[in-house]
Amino acid sequence: MLCIHNGNIIDGKRKDFYQGDILIDKGKIVEISCNNLCYKAEKIIDAKNLWVMPGFIDVHCHLREPGFEYKEDIASGTRSAAAGGFTSIACMPNTKPTIDNAAMVNFIKMKAAQEGKVKVYPIGAITKGREGKELTEMKELLEAGVIALSDDGDPVSDSRIMRLALEYAGQWGLPLISHCEDKSLAKDGVMNEGIISTMLGLKGIPSAAEEIMVARDVILAGTTGAPLHIAHVSTKGSVEIIRKAKSMGIKVTCETAPHYFSADEKWVDGYDTNAKVNPPLRTEEDVEAIKKGLQDGTIDIIATDHAPHHRDEKEIEYPLAASGISGFETAFALCYTNLVTENVISLVELVNKMSTIPARIFKIHGGTLEVGKAADIAIVNLKEEYTIDVQGFYSKGKNNPFHGKKVKGKVVYTIVQGKVVYDDGKII
Ligand code: DOR
Repeated sequence: MLCIHNGNIIDGKRKDFYQGDILIDKGKIVEISCNNLCYKAEKIIDAKNLWVMPGFIDVHCHLREPGFEYKEDIASGTRSAAAGGFTSIACMPNTKPTIDNAAMVNFIKMKAAQEGKVKVYPIGAITKGREGKELTEMKELLEAGVIALSDDGDPVSDSRIMRLALEYAGQWGLPLISHCEDKSLAKDGVMNEGIISTMLGLKGIPSAAEEIMVARDVILAGTTGAPLHIAHVSTKGSVEIIRKAKSMGIKVTCETAPHYFSADEKWVDGYDTNAKVNPPLRTEEDVEAIKKGLQDGTIDIIATDHAPHHRDEKEIEYPLAASGISGFETAFALCYTNLVTENVISLVELVNKMSTIPARIFKIHGGTLEVGKAADIAIVNLKEEYTIDVQGFYSKGKNNPFHGKKVKGKVVYTIVQGKVVYDDGKII
């Protein structure tokens, strides 16, 4: 048995934390107590002054396998996730081939079982080959084990197809994750449209490119009654549309990613390709609106959009560089530093947004620490300040604009199904 001793426990159910011990046996939590349980265990983790919480659940990451293993693969991606305190992750289907049939879903599950350090849940494509033309066999994907459907990386531009997709997936309560981008407006833009894009001489992507699609999709979710989840919300207007939709009773949930409240368009100045991401980093006003949305619950959850790329795809001219940020290993610290220490949300609310609520929306096991449930746990040191160093990443992707920045809050242990998979800097 393993005992996590004397930690500050956030269990994902109560609004407050308490001090105590957690006893783990055969992958499950068998006892939680304010009394010392060490005498029952062979192995003890001393969690004094540390915070013990349900392992983080990321519903939006790119593991790149199959097809782009030079960027990341399931082995490296799940190690990176473990180092970030994640115990369950859902991977997007923009692989090659696309995850758009049961055989591909089974391939991901098999590879994850063989090589994965954390639990991996595949997301299937909405349309075949993510081409936006023909719906996938959704029932087959559902039966194979997908937790959601998405063409992420690209929108479903055709509104008729999107409506059909919502109608079909909605029958089984299977959420569609929408990448909201009007391609005709975004066109060949490479950063947020505004004064800075003009100054830098870079083509801009207007906020409207995102907001038009957010509006379209919440209208379609409203008329079909199907569950819709909006990916990587980045603008003030999107937050306002979603807030309004929720007040109208439309079944919409959404996520933002740590970079949308930790950085803004100014980070592109100097043509830093690591700050190139889609949707792009927006204005200070947008950042404030994202924080407000997190605060009032309009933005339900935080997902990483972990998008590793090879250095050859980033160390080139800005317009040609690939979009994306390798984000597993900086997610918690950015959230803690920019949201909790800034009093935007409390630590308990952060744990809800990084674990409890994603588990609920996508019907994934986890998100709470309860007797009888799987022992998927993150243990963090909130006092530790450190400088982000991408060279220390377990991810193959070193593309992260926060390199060199000082942050607070370090993941010390990650425990998956009762097994310690990450121990103070080392993958076990
Ligand atoms: O920046 C991004 N990178 N946004 C996306 O939607 C896709 C992702 C990727 O796959 O690299």
